[in-house]
Amino acid sequence: MSAGHEKFAHRMELPPATAQPNIFPLSWESHTRRLEEIWAAAQREYWDPAKLPWNSFDPSRYSWEEREAIAYWWTLLSVFDASAPPVFAQALVKTYEVHEEDPVRKCFFSVTRDEQNHEAFCGMAISRLLEHPSPLTYKPRTELGHKAQKNAHWLYYNGGRYWNGYKQAVPRYSLAVLFSAFLMGEIAAATVFKQMSAGAAEPLFREAFRNVGRDEGRHMAICLTLMERDYPRLETTDKATITKQIRAGYLFLSAVLFEPPQEFWDLPDDFIAVQRACEDVARNAGFFIPTYDQKKHNWREAILNLKGVLDRYGIPFPAIPEVEISGQEVREIDMESIIPVF
Ligand SMILES: [Fe+2]
Ligand SMILES: [Fe+2]
Repeated sequence: MSAGHEKFAHRMELPPATAQPNIFPLSWESHTRRLEEIWAAAQREYWDPAKLPWNSFDPSRYSWEEREAIAYWWTLLSVFDASAPPVFAQALVKTYEVHEEDPVRKCFFSVTRDEQNHEAFCGMAISRLLEHPSPLTYKPRTELGHKAQKNAHWLYYNGGRYWNGYKQAVPRYSLAVLFSAFLMGEIAAATVFKQMSAGAAEPLFREAFRNVGRDEGRHMAICLTLMERDYPRLETTDKATITKQIRAGYLFLSAVLFEPPQEFWDLPDDFIAVQRACEDVARNAGFFIPTYDQKKHNWREAILNLKGVLDRYGIPFPAIPEVEISGQEVREIDMESIIPVF
């Protein structure tokens, strides 16, 4: 008989201790009040993408080029938001395995659920705009649509490269290390979506961006609260990993929040020109997208915010010369060692 099946109940008053890590604790400890408040807000602010004003949205009011250009932007976003549910689901499992306090488990559940909503909305918008459920298999109607689809294939290819690295990293690192780059993405995302909501001509998109931006603001607060809880007790090796993660997070998230750096993204030469052309067409059709300079400003502010947090805990910040931020030089970032999240 294997040890796992050995019976104890007939000779012991209480069973032997459960081997760790097991999947779940049987306790609901709560030590971080702020996380309880964020969870309560997540419950109150939950929204259903299907209940947004879809009736007011008539894609046939747009030309096919405009439809393809707007769908391209949703595709770009969904390369990040469609990977978020599995990324956070994996992290949610970890919060149970390491027997995190109850509000941490709840908060990671809420992020998983929110990101599922963001992904669902991207899918609904793309499907309506293209009259097809995938930007990769859709048959483009215009020349710009053809080029946008090629971009979409390359985005998808690059975005899919980090999943195996992420899965290997999850058991190795603490939550505080795993989610160090997360804050930067959430700060910038919350800003970008607020701007996109304010600028959107379609009530549907205005509301969607408002909801998504509010969700990202909560994710930001979760991340900040976990850092405040865990960073005062950080090991030196963890600090070095975080510095690297921040640089990797910058490179990865720049693709959606700024422009993809060639250093990291494997993209064809005309990629950025095509993306800019799509953005111009979308903007002219009333779909607000921040300009290059606005994006750069948002991104730099988000990074400086994160730097402010890390400085408090003596964690060296990486150099990010692309947005004029000096710091420690980080080289040799490869897809296998990074843990980018959005
Ligand atoms: Fe999101
Ligand atoms: Fe998020």
